[in-house]
Amino acid sequence: MPVGAVDVEHTGPGTLAGRFLRTFWQPVQRSQDLAADRAKPMRIMGENITLYRGEGGPAHAIAFRCAHRGTQLSTGWVEGDDLRCFYHGWKYDANGQCIEQPAEPEPFCQRIKIRAYPTQEYLGLIFAYLGEGDPPAFPLYPYMERQGVLENETYIRPCNYYNNLENDSAHVYFVHRRPGVDWREWNGIPPRFEAEETVWGVTTATIHANGRRTVTHRGIPNMIFRKADQGAGPRPDALEWRVPLDDENHHSFRIGLIPVTGDDEMRKWRERVAALEVQLDLDPCALGERVLVGALQIDEIDKKRTNIVYVEDTLSEVGQGPIADRVNEVLGATDVGVTVLRNIWERELRNLEADRPLKAWSIGDWFESAPGPSLLVEPTAWFGR
Ligand code: FES
Ligand SMILES: [Fe+2]
Repeated sequence: MPVGAVDVEHTGPGTLAGRFLRTFWQPVQRSQDLAADRAKPMRIMGENITLYRGEGGPAHAIAFRCAHRGTQLSTGWVEGDDLRCFYHGWKYDANGQCIEQPAEPEPFCQRIKIRAYPTQEYLGLIFAYLGEGDPPAFPLYPYMERQGVLENETYIRPCNYYNNLENDSAHVYFVHRRPGVDWREWNGIPPRFEAEETVWGVTTATIHANGRRTVTHRGIPNMIFRKADQGAGPRPDALEWRVPLDDENHHSFRIGLIPVTGDDEMRKWRERVAALEVQLDLDPCALGERVLVGALQIDEIDKKRTNIVYVEDTLSEVGQGPIADRVNEVLGATDVGVTVLRNIWERELRNLEADRPLKAWSIGDWFESAPGPSLLVEPTAWFGR
């Protein structure tokens, strides 16, 4: 269903929102999940692609299927920086050019080229450009390059990316309620919610009765930035993307930077991040789905073994349905951020449709001066709460 009269939810090839998202670099995989000499299938915005990493190190992205008889290229063999098809051995380089046809008596490789997508690796994520023509300059985020320990997280959630993208500020006090973050502590005076368009996207603010103010920044098209309050000990500054897998599933990718310095501190936090990957062994999405079908209650989940925050968000976002109903919904004052975000999307998509110029969003340099702190609700295991 549309936002205004503009469809933001369908992002397959040729759709308006899909064209818009494809004008930006998008993360497609964590670097750590693509080993050298390995190929993997990947789905993004309804398109299947093949990701592989050559022996030389860099990640490459090419078409999903072989030009010959269409088998899935991720089943093939990585050779140097090239990929050989599993079915009859045609070999492609990282530009998608066919360079070998071993069974053909008179090879005609020069006539065979499959699609290749520009890729970049940055801060633990592999990015690809799926749009037409040359990609825009790759956006850097110097604020996230500060010294510290990186933690990259990813999950797949079975709902439309926009359900997650327009997740609001008020939900935290209900969905993630815990001491200090609980609507029952408002004493009947709810916070005010404000939102405004910025040079990067939308900043939403929550202003409590006692004057406490927290902010969340959304970047156009599908990013979120949260600046941690470092006063209570090191916490990750977080930059995240919500990337459609198809119209009813999306990936989330996160760069978390814990800004600690000194060898000992860095080692301690690296170990902590690694231990957490092992400790959080229960899949929050699978748990969320079990709660949604009534097989499990959220209070029965072992909070030390899963990212309970992700389970909670799965319940509210997937609970809206695979694609939230934006026609029959009823918005209130807490939804001001939703409205500002939608208005920007509607304006930009209309401009794209009419071939008018789009707003040039300022990227990483703005992070330094971006207001904080954000309200961060981390996994229970993270701070031992
Ligand atoms: S299908 Fe790939 S070589 Fe035949
Ligand atoms: Fe949440």
